[in-house]
Amino acid sequence: MRLPGAALAAGLQLPAVLAGSSGGGDSQKPLGLADSWGPGLSGKRPNIVFVLTDDQDLHMQSLDYLPLIKKHLINEGTLYKRHYCTTAICCPARVSLLTGRLAHNTNVTDVNPPYGGYPKFVHQGLNNAYLPVWLQEAGYNTYYTGKLFNAHTTENYHSPYPAGWNSSDFLLDPYTYNYLNASYQRNRDPPVSYQGQHTVDVLSQKALGFLEDAVAHPDRPFFLGIAPVAPHSNVEAFSLDGTPDDLDDIEQFVRFTPPIPAARHAHLFEDVIVPRTPNFNPSSVTGASWVRTLPRQSAENVAFNDHFYRQRLRALQSVDELVAAVVEKLEAHGLLGETYIFYTTDNGYHIGQHRLQPGKECGFEEDINIPLIVRGPGVPAGEVSEVVTTHVDLAPTLLGLAGAPARADFDGEAIPLSRGALDEAVVSRHEHVTVEFWGLAIGEGKVFGDQSRFWLNNTYKAVRVISKEYSFYYAVWCNGEHELYDVKADPYQLTNLLHPSSTPPTTLLGLPLSKVTARLDTLLFVLKSCKAQTCVRPWHALHPAGNVQNLHDALSGRFDVFYEQQQKRVSFSRCEYGQLLDAEGPQFETDGVVYRQGVRWSEWV
Ligand SMILES: *[C@@H]1O[C@H](CO)[C@@H](O)[C@H](O)[C@H]1NC(C)=O
Ligand SMILES: *[C@@H]1O[C@H](CO)[C@@H](O)[C@H](O)[C@H]1NC(C)=O
Ligand SMILES: *[C@@H]1O[C@H](CO)[C@@H](O)[C@H](O)[C@H]1NC(C)=O
Ligand SMILES: *[C@@H]1O[C@H](CO)[C@@H](O)[C@H](O)[C@H]1NC(C)=O
Repeated sequence: MRLPGAALAAGLQLPAVLAGSSGGGDSQKPLGLADSWGPGLSGKRPNIVFVLTDDQDLHMQSLDYLPLIKKHLINEGTLYKRHYCTTAICCPARVSLLTGRLAHNTNVTDVNPPYGGYPKFVHQGLNNAYLPVWLQEAGYNTYYTGKLFNAHTTENYHSPYPAGWNSSDFLLDPYTYNYLNASYQRNRDPPVSYQGQHTVDVLSQKALGFLEDAVAHPDRPFFLGIAPVAPHSNVEAFSLDGTPDDLDDIEQFVRFTPPIPAARHAHLFEDVIVPRTPNFNPSSVTGASWVRTLPRQSAENVAFNDHFYRQRLRALQSVDELVAAVVEKLEAHGLLGETYIFYTTDNGYHIGQHRLQPGKECGFEEDINIPLIVRGPGVPAGEVSEVVTTHVDLAPTLLGLAGAPARADFDGEAIPLSRGALDEAVVSRHEHVTVEFWGLAIGEGKVFGDQSRFWLNNTYKAVRVISKEYSFYYAVWCNGEHELYDVKADPYQLTNLLHPSSTPPTTLLGLPLSKVTARLDTLLFVLKSCKAQTCVRPWHALHPAGNVQNLHDALSGRFDVFYEQQQKRVSFSRCEYGQLLDAEGPQFETDGVVYRQGVRWSEWV
């Protein structure tokens, strides 16, 4: 069996970088975010520090073990507890974050070529159309250290160099996840090996050094990106010419082990275990597709996974210290009051929930609902916000802070930062998250018994909808299976209401289940191929008159025929490892129906 690119997650030696081409995107009106700059700034543009961890969870309570982040960021800023990534794996998530576009629009859908990784990012023209380039154009000095993308390697780091950074010091594959033997590559210099040093400690020195550089140029505001690998699993990857043909061979080339903490943190949390939520290693199968085939984990497996969990918490301690050091340095330079600090991660993580081995790539809350904390001028302190935000909202937010125009191809909208904007968002902000995935799922723990490390056909389209009234996750898989969780009633997503073995409730929101499902399916139909504002206001694409703003409105009985009989359903004709449109069923743009006396979209536009 051919090995899809995702199996090379650890960044093996890769084919030559593909040629770059110029990206598009028109300028649009500036975002009216000035009120979020806070009263003290009076026109001066803020500095931005952006901390991006790797695979950090929200649902296994990792934030509870980070006292300095709590002190400096959570207590002094706002925690967005409904922040989501839109594709739960590193490279697609990072590309979406830095371009403001969903993976189906960047078409960077995997961690390695042909469907993803740094070469695909370059090939898509995105090296000329992403955040640091726009921030420099807006007058910012830009700095970055740590992991940028997967498949950015000791071989291809210069062909071309990532654009947009005044100074950079990147972690490179195949050493990115090697906690004690990392390779970093600074500006135009060749890669340097840091054998024997802890990668997050190395990174901390680099980050603080860049902060000094940035402060030395007070004529321009700065953006500093800090991207430690913690708490990603430790991965040793070995050079490889070509591509292995058989998944079984992969163990020769990539070895996953638990993350490795700095020596000073190695003995913390000895009694801590993965929270035993109701979905932890449950007695009955859950989910859909391959997830339903997983065996219950043995006591030995659970004990190993608890160790894996503790190693994550320990590895994160270095990040906790790094955040405190950054805050202290900003304060020492008198810049804390005019600097925004963002803290998030690329995607979430699961260990044992739904019987899953340590990993990500799923649509469950553990994998998609992730930490986002912001502190800065005008951001309420100690606030926990429930507004729905996603990774594609971050580029619009950051450009807005920089006073730069939003881009017409953004698939998200700025995150409310000020008290006033947060209050208004509670009533006006959208309630949905687009979720999409193509490819494999990978178990990063130990392989027990005759289990597998890879699961194929992990390709699905999903939508998460959250309001005060309801909370749903709806997914359509490439093999035709469907998933629906009533997350309000079933927060641990134990009962897939659409699995043939489930006995679904006769009504949901007081309506037959099929009426709710029809609306969710049509919403997903729009979102799976949406572009720009349609991704933010999908109901508007269905109801151009503007009278339907959310699921609640769409559930009105007068739209029953429209949703239940006139729309094509989301479907796939086969499972693929990338975005091959001919496998992805009907497309809204050509096959969708718009609510206007049932006139077809194609005739109406
Ligand atoms: C950072 O790069 C921008 C764009 O090339 C340039 O205008 C600016 O002067 C640079 N800043 C420093 C401190 O070199
Ligand atoms: C550490 O990484 C370097 C390349 O940066 C490599 O040559 C060396 O073999 C690695 N050492 C170990 C112990 O893996
Ligand atoms: C994956 O999907 C393909 C095509 O849709 C199918 O032929 C194959 O049997 C599936 N493989 C597994 C392991 O489910
Ligand atoms: C996405 O990229 C793959 C690999 O290059 C390509 O085959 C596919 O057609 C692209 N999909 C879209 C929608 O552009």
